[in-house]
Amino acid sequence: MELRQKRRLVVLTGAGISAESGIRTFRDDNGLWEGHDLAEVATPEGWNKNRALVLDFYNQRRKACLKAKPNAAHLKLAELEDSYEVTIITQNVDDLHEKAGSSHIIHLHGELCKSQSTVDPRITYPIDGWELKLGDTCEKGSQLRPFVVWFGEPVPKMVEAIAAVSQAEALAVIGTSMLVYPAAGLIDYAEEAIPKFIIDPSIPSLYPIANLFPIAEKAGTGVAKMEKALQSWEFED
Ligand code: APR
Repeated sequence: MELRQKRRLVVLTGAGISAESGIRTFRDDNGLWEGHDLAEVATPEGWNKNRALVLDFYNQRRKACLKAKPNAAHLKLAELEDSYEVTIITQNVDDLHEKAGSSHIIHLHGELCKSQSTVDPRITYPIDGWELKLGDTCEKGSQLRPFVVWFGEPVPKMVEAIAAVSQAEALAVIGTSMLVYPAAGLIDYAEEAIPKFIIDPSIPSLYPIANLFPIAEKAGTGVAKMEKALQSWEFED
């Protein structure tokens, strides 16, 4: 008898999954991110205007991230690898999915704990500790910037993310306002017949989508509910 391979579960996460780990979301605070206008700290224009401010901003975020611990939702997603082939597509730049033990993670918007060359975006380095400074340079001599995808910049990992969602046998969307493209458009690549769980205390309004199951809860409890629903889902062969 042949054993069926594990089902492919693809999970798109946003800032909300890290909220219970003490990391603030972007849009729950009047459009300000830790007191800053997003345009100041998350655009190439902001970087060109004030590099010291942008470096300091991400240094503070990195400091917080180093201290943060994965919560029940991150841990449950890692545990689900026992039963499913799980791919995490995250918009978050924190490393809480890694800390929880997930093994296949696509970071759509970069990684806070890495720096990137400003002359060759393919060159990235791990950052030792919390601080990236003016004067820190890449091997080609250019100032290093945070390895974060800012508004107005391309999202190279979309190709890999689209491939994963297209092949998913179940999809979960957790803690994202679904306002930022291209990430928000990923759900359109999922097969109509597969179950799509949306976990968020404030479910984002989406146009009618087949087999959509809203779970209006925080990620910590919502992911456990999704696990139960998945167990009783009748997958097609
Ligand atoms: N559990 C689940 N969801 C939560 C929780 C929680 N405990 N707390 C808040 N949320 C939800 C909010 O209701 C909201 O829908 O998380 C969502 C957070 O939305 P945003 O702050 O807009 O974050 P996100 O969707 O990840 O932002 C996308 O925008 O600023 C850019 O590049 C940045 O990756 C980011 C992108």
